[in-house]
Amino acid sequence: MADRQTSGAAITFENLEKSFYKKGTGQVKALEGVNLDVPAGTITGIIGRSGAGKSTLLRMVNGLEQPTSGTVTVAGHDVGRAGAAELRRIRRDVGMIFQHFNLLSSRTVYGNVALPLEIAGLPSAEIKPRVDDLIARVGLEQLSGRYPAELSGGQKQRVGIARALATKPKVLLSDEATSALDPETTQTVLKLLADINRDLGLTILLITHEMAVVRDIASHVAVIDGGRIVEAGTTYDVFADPKHPTTRSFLSGITGITLPSFVSHRLKAERPQGHSEEVIRITFAGRHATDPMLAKLTSELGIPVNILAGAVEEIGPHPFGNLLVSVEADRGPEARAYLERHNLLTEVLGYVG
Ligand SMILES: Nc1ncnc2c1ncn2[C@@H]1O[C@H](COP(=O)(O)OP(=O)(O)O)[C@@H](O)[C@H]1O
Ligand SMILES: [Mg+2]
Repeated sequence: MADRQTSGAAITFENLEKSFYKKGTGQVKALEGVNLDVPAGTITGIIGRSGAGKSTLLRMVNGLEQPTSGTVTVAGHDVGRAGAAELRRIRRDVGMIFQHFNLLSSRTVYGNVALPLEIAGLPSAEIKPRVDDLIARVGLEQLSGRYPAELSGGQKQRVGIARALATKPKVLLSDEATSALDPETTQTVLKLLADINRDLGLTILLITHEMAVVRDIASHVAVIDGGRIVEAGTTYDVFADPKHPTTRSFLSGITGITLPSFVSHRLKAERPQGHSEEVIRITFAGRHATDPMLAKLTSELGIPVNILAGAVEEIGPHPFGNLLVSVEADRGPEARAYLERHNLLTEVLGYVG
């Protein structure tokens, strides 16, 4: 039975800065003033656009990158100041999985999972039962003799997960681990990660550019933009009341509902001459999700609203929804200001003449 920590931080970033020297551009600040606790035993997501600094942040947790200043603490160890022996110990405590799996093509499933144990110098009699156990945990018993080229993407990532767990780490880092997978396979891999988190009490720090991944498995989230953490908290709090524009833009597309084609075919980015309708996406969450805001918009401001599409789903036990509507373009700004005042998020998708 693994130790289960339910309080305290598994990873702490304090005043973390990282600069790279780039030919031509000079110093590039990849991370600036990062302060963040990753609570032990949680699945914590870090979401940001490409180039935001996600991978750099993750790579500091296992000492693949050194901070320019500030500290990264993992299970009590100061990673940036660790000597070689301490760093080896830290790396046994921190497993990592990758977008492109990083398996050795010359080794079988079994050989890939066994590799970290061979490197750690475990006696071979102990390696076999451990590897068999790991392969069973990720559901690949029938495939242990196969080579990576003979596996699907989802199966390769299962091998990556088994390999990352081989040294019985306390922390699992995931760098866009589902980004190369189709949506269905993504769901099965996320479920496996959630099972591992629950069964082993392992802390998982995952980085992604997809809010759906955060919604599906992360209890906590931090939003990173231009090397800074701009928002952090429980997933529900951040979804229910997002403060930063970057968070809002990540949230607005999350339900995946789309405009009916009779609207999308006529949608223009610029407002046309003459009468037109403004097409708006409304995102709502938490206790606001069930308020009859559209009815109020009509009754209080006298603005009629056409509903084009909508869906309400759940984040944990809480409702979260998206509506696509249109209003007369002249009244659009007024309608959006009203909705924003009532804590709904709005985004103009375009205009139809
Ligand atoms: N080894 C490196 N040398 C120079 N610049 C780097 C290096 N690694 C990352 N960067 C720069 O740091 C910034 C953040 O990169 P990265 O952490 O990979 O972002 P993300 O994973 O969010 O896409 C980018 O501007 C990137 O070009
Ligand atoms: Mg990256």
